[in-house]
Amino acid sequence: MEEIREIREIHELCERAVEMRAFSYTPYSHFRVGAALLTGSGKVYTGCNIESASFTPTICAERTAIFKAVSEGEKDFLAIAIAGGPEDGEIQYCPPCGVCRQVLAEWCSADFRIFLARSAEDYRSYTLDEIMPLRFGPENLR
Ligand code: THU
Repeated sequence: MEEIREIREIHELCERAVEMRAFSYTPYSHFRVGAALLTGSGKVYTGCNIESASFTPTICAERTAIFKAVSEGEKDFLAIAIAGGPEDGEIQYCPPCGVCRQVLAEWCSADFRIFLARSAEDYRSYTLDEIMPLRFGPENLR
């Protein structure tokens, strides 16, 4: 029962990530990414990638979601679903960029889960430890 509830939660998270691609602002790359971040209290923060004519200020979907959450006082994160692909093509199993992995490492534990979603039910699951071993984090500065 517990497992079924969890799987449904994963499906919903993946679906939210796919839906968020509709809000991506991508006039330069035409590559749309959506993200949905699950907190320990069950709340979901969403994000999309937002590009800029001067390129550097472009922000990824994952960081949009994380910064929305942190700016509202949330720091306890369980999982993130990511859905990315070209606007006129299929959604890929889109891995988070290195900068977003570093930002995840600021707040997320080794077993934090990352779902690379192509749809609600088609996703690959990884832990933070798997996608970013030997990471530099807050503990290095203690
Ligand atoms: N992008 C993301 O939003 N997340 C990723 O994990 C990979 C890349 C965005 C940034 C940029 O708007 C576009 O995808 C192409 O790099």
